[in-house]
Amino acid sequence: MSGTLSTRHLIGIKDVTSSDIKLILDTATEFKEVINRPIKKVPSLRDVTVANLFFENSTRTRISFELAEKRLSADVVNFSASSSSVKKGETLLDTVNNILSMKVDMVVIRHPMPGAPHFLKKHIPANVINAGDGTHEHPTQALLDAYSIRERLGALSGKKVVIVGDILHSRVALSNIFCLQKMGAKVAVCGPPTLIPRHLADLGVKVFYKVKEALSWCDVANVLRIQFERQNIKYIPSLREYAMYYGIDKAMLDALDKEIVLMHPGPINRGVELSSDAADSHHSIILDQVENGVAVRMAILYLLASEKAT
Ligand code: CP
Repeated sequence: MSGTLSTRHLIGIKDVTSSDIKLILDTATEFKEVINRPIKKVPSLRDVTVANLFFENSTRTRISFELAEKRLSADVVNFSASSSSVKKGETLLDTVNNILSMKVDMVVIRHPMPGAPHFLKKHIPANVINAGDGTHEHPTQALLDAYSIRERLGALSGKKVVIVGDILHSRVALSNIFCLQKMGAKVAVCGPPTLIPRHLADLGVKVFYKVKEALSWCDVANVLRIQFERQNIKYIPSLREYAMYYGIDKAMLDALDKEIVLMHPGPINRGVELSSDAADSHHSIILDQVENGVAVRMAILYLLASEKAT
């Protein structure tokens, strides 16, 4: 494996180059081969200690990072805000500096505040990886999504990808838009007008308000859930109404006169944005995304560990 990234941290896809993205995806291909061997472990990160700091709930990202670190032979510590001294009033910086004083080299952080990983990067010597910061970015999700599309369709350039759902509150949407555009894909969004931010048109993103039109346009539909935990006012009348106008089922996908790839970052709200028969259909690569997440995160950890942090 050869090549170096232009960055010592992964804060957002906005900050990385298309060469960085290509290097991460190509390195992930090599790690995917490794994790499908009977012996899945390599010594690449021996003597490197990684702290996974989760200030927000997670299933896929947290387990995927921990597995990626262990497959690379790193020492791993897991921190969950809900069972920590954050509950007693300790600040983010004090918490992280205390953990770093135990000789930690890399920090993976998920935090509800947009900008928290950027703040850490400025104040600590470790490499920082953003595992999702509020409504801002989720760069490792975008990279595993790009990897999964490239794996299924053979390329990203020229492919049409629509992101359907709650775009306004989605860090996955923003990171996917940056990543796919940098790799030459055409990107659209689809959802109720209240859940599509006005500035998206400035990013060169096509906007659909009707899901059938969006599905007819695209090669790939990446479907998101409604993020009620980030909404303090009502943006849609009801989930039932949302499912009626924006929910995707297998019959809609089968009716298209073309192949379509169905994606979802998880967690799925079955019966709302996706029916079970769509989520579990041959169109879906949802579990491939999860599998690929480990290889992509191994690639990111491996490439960043070879960069000295500033
Ligand atoms: N896709 C994703 O971030 O899932 P989790 O919230 O379970 O980590």
